Amino acid sequence: MPGQRIVCGVFLYKALRLPLTMNSQSKATARANIALIKYWGKADSSMNIPAAGSISITLDALCSETVVSFKESLSADELSLDGESRPEYVPRISRFLDILRERADIKTRASVTSKNNFPLGAGLASSASGFAALAAAASAALRLEISPRELSIVARQGSGSAARSVFGGFVEMHADRSRDGEGSFAEPLLESSAWHLEVVIALTDRSEKAVGSRQGMNRSAATSPYYVAWLDASAKDLERGRDAILNRDFKALADVAQSNCLKMHSVAMTTQPALMYWNGATVECIRAIQKLQQDGVPVFFTIDAGPQVKAVCESSALQHVASTLRAVLGVKEVILSGLGAGVEWG
Ligand code: PMV
Repeated sequence: MPGQRIVCGVFLYKALRLPLTMNSQSKATARANIALIKYWGKADSSMNIPAAGSISITLDALCSETVVSFKESLSADELSLDGESRPEYVPRISRFLDILRERADIKTRASVTSKNNFPLGAGLASSASGFAALAAAASAALRLEISPRELSIVARQGSGSAARSVFGGFVEMHADRSRDGEGSFAEPLLESSAWHLEVVIALTDRSEKAVGSRQGMNRSAATSPYYVAWLDASAKDLERGRDAILNRDFKALADVAQSNCLKMHSVAMTTQPALMYWNGATVECIRAIQKLQQDGVPVFFTIDAGPQVKAVCESSALQHVASTLRAVLGVKEVILSGLGAGVEWG
């Protein structure tokens, strides 16, 4: 963490109880992740504590790069996303920055500039990479001394899945609603170099989804008759997923990840009004992957709250899986990704 002298300065200001003022800037990069064992529902909405644990892989190819500048001259926070000013997102960003401002004991407003190399809000986990990068850049700009676990707890309050993007490779998120959310953080499960998996992302629609995850999962908890059964099954899936990863057992991981994904979407579809995140091409991709599996290809699918299909495969199958999905009617683009690193500064 940069700026050891300034960190000491913060303590001095706090000790003297003087309001700290500052002009300071930092940059951080974080990558999106996809959940293999998903969370869908919250135990506590105000602190954004998930109702169940989850396991994800961090993706090398999908990045958010964020610069945060705290400036005494600003009267309000401002946000530029991929070159455009987005005032509609500023209240959410401001509430998030307040968590860090309170820790640093300052009131200074910030200018946030974020660039993503993939479409936002389309089920590619842009909120995960976005809030992880924002948490990392803002805490560095504020010269906060913060451990990776604390950074994950902060990121979680922006978006549940962002807690996992703090780390690279295979990551597990814990859902513990006790201790004011301090027990609900992500941590690394297995390094990416320990198991070389690849991901083929089939983009079937680039537009932003109509119902976001936060609203969708709250609606599911309130109306889906399968929600309680989903939570019951999550604990078992989490254990199976963790064991499969630690044993590098592809077949076991494929079975539990696919089944977990279909359970989550069954809950979404039985929500009222129904949350139908899939389109026709999503279904065609699932069928194409099932056909590959019948032919013995080591691949499985997973789908988050959007119409894109992510096919996870062993390295040997990458080109075969990519060309199969590229040929599916309705697939607009195919993105290839290995497993990536956690947050990086600078
Ligand atoms: O990160 P959120 O709170 O917007 O929700 C993520 C929900 C899923 O992507 C569908 C599942 C998950 O565990 O990432």
